[in-house]
Amino acid sequence: MKSIFLLSLNKLKKILAFIDRDDKMIIALNNKCNFKIEEFLTYQQELNKIVDNNLIVLCPTSLYLSVAKLDNIKLGAQNTSCTKEGAYTGEISASQLKSLNVEYCIVGHSERRKNQKESNEEIKEKITRLLEENITPILCVGETKEEREKKQVEQILREELAILNDINDKERIIIAYEPIWSIGTGLIPSNTEIKEVINLIKTNYPSNKVLYGGSANEKNIDELKKIREIDGYLIGGMSLHPEKIQEFLQKLKK
Ligand code: PGA
Repeated sequence: MKSIFLLSLNKLKKILAFIDRDDKMIIALNNKCNFKIEEFLTYQQELNKIVDNNLIVLCPTSLYLSVAKLDNIKLGAQNTSCTKEGAYTGEISASQLKSLNVEYCIVGHSERRKNQKESNEEIKEKITRLLEENITPILCVGETKEEREKKQVEQILREELAILNDINDKERIIIAYEPIWSIGTGLIPSNTEIKEVINLIKTNYPSNKVLYGGSANEKNIDELKKIREIDGYLIGGMSLHPEKIQEFLQKLKK
């Protein structure tokens, strides 16, 4: 009798954990290359005042990962090395991130694909290193304006996501759809366009969480949240303003 009770209690706990996990939106804050140390510490204090049920992940500049003291917020990095620890000047390995309690890491952001000429092969290596350390990769994918106009969105996404095909445990990867022309510009695709792409990703990778990123903010969240398929947001510009984050989260709740 007691063991039946324990069994059902365990089952119930699992179900509750599942519901809890699935209800939560993932809000990843990408600070990019912003803040001096004093500014970051003040910002962090403000951020710690936020009370919210969603899963919030802060990705500060790598320099500040070791001074991050977050209450209800998870720690993420903006990049990692393709290599393990060793003679790689200037690199930061996934195992070093892990030692700083980093649980998430952005990979393949379009700014790095463009400025550092990161290839899909390198991005795949980074994902592998992160998964070895049990860090959740947030893989960014998305098209340029020109590619959208040429109706190449599907093809671009297929190419960028193809690296997942021979990764074991790929369902642990969070995919962030970020139309490049939308990042930092204030321009966003229509809800129908976003929905189309998210559905395309989910058809091919049904077990992965999919975020939207690109000028998401406290002003357009009322419209964006109508897209039920979105599992969360990757936020750049707005991430620098705790009061706007607060407003965004309030609106997301309603
Ligand atoms: P944005 O940046 O919100 O400023 O457009 C998003 C991102 O680059 O991840």
